[in-house]
Amino acid sequence: MTPSSSEIKNPFRPGAGHMPPYLAGREHESEEFATLLRQDVILSNMILTGLRGLGKTVLLEKLKPVAIAAGWLWAGTDLSEAASVSEDNLVMRILTDLAIATSSITVTHAPDRKSGFADRQPVEMRLNYPGLRTIYDGTPGLASDKLKAVLEFVWPHVDASGRKGIIFAYDEAQNLADHAARDQYPFSLLLDVFQSVQRKGLRLMLVLTGLPTLFPKLVAARTYTERMFHLVFLHPLNRAETDQAIRKPIEESQCEIDVAQESLRTIWEITHGYPYFVQYVCREAFDVWVQAINQGKKPRSIPIQEIIRKLDSDFFAGRWAKATDRQRDLLAVISNLPNCDAEFSVQDVVESHSNSGTERPFGSSQVNQLLSSLSDLGLIYKNRHGKYSFAVPLLGDFIRRQNECAMPGDQGELFE
Ligand SMILES: Nc1ncnc2c1ncn2[C@@H]1O[C@H](COP(=O)(O)OP(=O)(O)OP(=O)(O)O)[C@@H](O)[C@H]1O
Ligand SMILES: [Mg+2]
Repeated sequence: MTPSSSEIKNPFRPGAGHMPPYLAGREHESEEFATLLRQDVILSNMILTGLRGLGKTVLLEKLKPVAIAAGWLWAGTDLSEAASVSEDNLVMRILTDLAIATSSITVTHAPDRKSGFADRQPVEMRLNYPGLRTIYDGTPGLASDKLKAVLEFVWPHVDASGRKGIIFAYDEAQNLADHAARDQYPFSLLLDVFQSVQRKGLRLMLVLTGLPTLFPKLVAARTYTERMFHLVFLHPLNRAETDQAIRKPIEESQCEIDVAQESLRTIWEITHGYPYFVQYVCREAFDVWVQAINQGKKPRSIPIQEIIRKLDSDFFAGRWAKATDRQRDLLAVISNLPNCDAEFSVQDVVESHSNSGTERPFGSSQVNQLLSSLSDLGLIYKNRHGKYSFAVPLLGDFIRRQNECAMPGDQGELFE
């Protein structure tokens, strides 16, 4: 039965981590994950990376049932900055996540000298948090030795239960960091422990997702990680996938909206297939279409200017407001580079036509300095090859719009 227009719910979900009504594309990435699941010895772990709003979190969520169906246990959550403050915090995070996956397994534990319970009788024990913690606390040595002991203890029981392995999936992993000043190395601990247990044949696989700063950070912490991870870079949806992301939810909502080719093209031109923007623009457009139906009219075309204006204030303006005038001048120069949406070098900026045309052109040391401060603001990032990119999708378009017409920059932001 066709729902009445007042019952039609807007299906689109622009918001961090909100599962879209239809997850378009990503077949290739899912296939790469499926290949990693078939490893008998874990030689490759996965990093899923991409700019804000590309769909890392929702894809990770979609990979979870795939892994479980293939016989894996799944442990993991968001890696908040708090989890990365100290080695103890990170270990507690890992033990907590592991315990959720293994708590139904009961084992007979015969403590040995190594675990510090040499005088005790074998005991029945569940692999829940207290159980794992007992092993951890009873193992002498560094936090990494203790964590390895827990994983090595758990593994044979997981293996015997017929499971293929355990996935440790951590979102927002760019928050991981070592803190030399405090003598705390949680990031290196994670990498060292997994490298060590994987070498011993334990099928414990890391799946880390995060912003593009993640991989360079990882390699800087431990050079061997370059070989330890398979890097999957999420790109925007292509035109056909974008059309599907728009059409499928509308079809499923069974309303009378028939999205015209022209509207599909308009949404493509605004969003360039960036998933968050697709959800955002479609949510706005859907309301306009439903309003038209309510008034007994045919759905009208999309109010492009209004939607872009709203998107600018909702998504971009909060970040833009943090930049100083001089940083904004530099961003304006960058936004006029023909390669601004890919990657650019300090040299590109210094030599650019619009830089030489400005009143106070930027020299290379100033560009370096400003780019570094813009990285701290989360607007720019430096990749492994020393080149720079915008850290926010379609930022170049936004900056050019700012220069065409001044707009107030006082709104909140959706991604932080
Ligand atoms: N494949 C897709 N098809 C349609 N919509 C998608 C797709 N992937 C993500 N989205 C939508 O895009 C938005 C952003 O997704 P998500 O939060 O997973 O991105 P993210 O990369 O994790 O962002 P962040 O870097 O901020 O954590 C959500 O509204 C989600 O519904
Ligand atoms: Mg996310």
